[in-house]
Amino acid sequence: MDFKEIIASLIYDCINDVQIEKDEIKKYIEIPKENINGDFAFPCFRLAKILKMAPNIIAEDLKQKINIQNSILKKTEAVSGYLNFFIDKASIVKNAIDKFDVQKEEYGKQDIGNGKTILVEYSSPNIAKPFHIGHLKTTIIGNSLYNIYKNCGYNAMSLNHLGDYGTQFAKLIEGYKRWGNEYDLETNPIDKLSEIYKRINELCEKDENVLEECRETFKKLENGDEFCVNLWNKFKELSLKEFEKIYKLLNVKFDSYNGESFYSDKMQEVVDILEKNGKLTVSQGAKVVDLTDKGIKTPCIIQKTNGSSIYATRDLAAILYRARTYDFDKCIYVVAEEQNLHFKQIFEVAKYLNLDEKYTNGLIHVSYGMIRLPEGKMSTRKGNFVKVEDLLNESITKAGEILQNREEVDNKELISKQVGIGAVIFEDLKESRIKNQVFDLDEALNFNGETGPYVQYMAVRTKSVLKKAGYIPTKEQVNNDLLTDDVSINLVKLIENFDNTILIALEKNEPSIIARFSIDLAKAYSTFYNENKIINDDKSVQDARLYLTYMTKVTLTNSLKLLGIEVPDKM
Ligand code: ARG
Repeated sequence: MDFKEIIASLIYDCINDVQIEKDEIKKYIEIPKENINGDFAFPCFRLAKILKMAPNIIAEDLKQKINIQNSILKKTEAVSGYLNFFIDKASIVKNAIDKFDVQKEEYGKQDIGNGKTILVEYSSPNIAKPFHIGHLKTTIIGNSLYNIYKNCGYNAMSLNHLGDYGTQFAKLIEGYKRWGNEYDLETNPIDKLSEIYKRINELCEKDENVLEECRETFKKLENGDEFCVNLWNKFKELSLKEFEKIYKLLNVKFDSYNGESFYSDKMQEVVDILEKNGKLTVSQGAKVVDLTDKGIKTPCIIQKTNGSSIYATRDLAAILYRARTYDFDKCIYVVAEEQNLHFKQIFEVAKYLNLDEKYTNGLIHVSYGMIRLPEGKMSTRKGNFVKVEDLLNESITKAGEILQNREEVDNKELISKQVGIGAVIFEDLKESRIKNQVFDLDEALNFNGETGPYVQYMAVRTKSVLKKAGYIPTKEQVNNDLLTDDVSINLVKLIENFDNTILIALEKNEPSIIARFSIDLAKAYSTFYNENKIINDDKSVQDARLYLTYMTKVTLTNSLKLLGIEVPDKM
């Protein structure tokens, strides 16, 4: 039974003179935080705008009109612009249990995406440059979105658009030719390549001839010169090896590592199509697409004065390639908000590439806010950035220290890793992605805060309760009436709303919605556990509470899984 659907129908029947769809009404229906406000509530504020009437009057009016006889509704109440619905509690419990029982361990899985392909591009660090905490953030958000889409039945693909192209590689090659033998690239290659890069840049600034040499080298690299290409490959391999360490810790995998260089021979087509469509104009020697009529003041540069391509051109070539190769329904880019303009530009220019609208409408920039480390903490250790791998390892070590005195934790190494990594992931996902963030590791590891370890801890508690009981009852053993008290029903309602929560997260490309949900659920279970004795002399009470514990375990575990976080066995 879908209570929201039933309520939406009742409301819809009363307001059929208004331009509003039933599905839209259903979307507005909320689940109040406090039980005194009913089990569901319909806010009348949007209707108020359409009807040009005060929300409290609409609520009162609806209350008079809605016929609650012969329905699962117990009563309705109009309060400050909301119409609150009270439902028979045992029906709520039965409904939630029935829904859960169909899927059990798979609870939350959905199939709305069947047949649709979603590309999620994320992480995309730059070769021979440090992987910074901004890259950590896109990796974590992107991986979660990938999980969410997969969970909903989409054919999801994870793409890593590596920054592996550009003049800086020619500079690196020139630097390496000069000082390569001074550096052992087998250990900490990225630090050393960064240093070589810094040195050659300084030299280029002083000596115009060196800069010219670098330009020549770039041409050689583009033309496939063996020496240059081999070195470039070596840099790429070394960098990838470093990135892989981070991906392994985070348990992140990519279906494709086609980076910018992959598109270098596919860019001419972009230039040709734009040229043919009359979209290219010359501005200070460069070829650009003017976008003023789209409300974008800065033109999109397609070809630089010297004829070489740029970042945007490679992105446009990637759009063509991805449309043809994957026939995507959506292509999502998880990239920091600093690149808002870039994506606005390329999404507009993509419309001039003779692509089907399906593709250009499916391009989505999922941006996120600035992230930095707290002043004076880890940020100063290595210049002004901290190595992400060190940060992750530090989190694991600290988690290990916290768990050290807990006897029940036997496999400390694995569990420290699950908790340390879980803490970092959760910290990056718990606020809406666009918010700027100061990343504080100690806060992330606070077992009593709104953190990953707190949610993990509650999930572990559900496991240990079930273990202590030694069995999981069947649905048939549950007497629904025994779960109608305030704390139980709260938990039941949250669990019932899991699938809906996932859909909202998907619609908004916002994993934080699932993170918040998991905190609410963990808190609700904590209250339930403290106030309701689970292991009980009364077997029927015990069965009901154990089943609810089982539902909580699965729901918590599956929501953490969507975020990319594991649940330890013990904690
Ligand atoms: N490599 C870029 C950076 O580190 C991000 C790439 C984003 N993706 C894209 N298709 N442009 O800033």
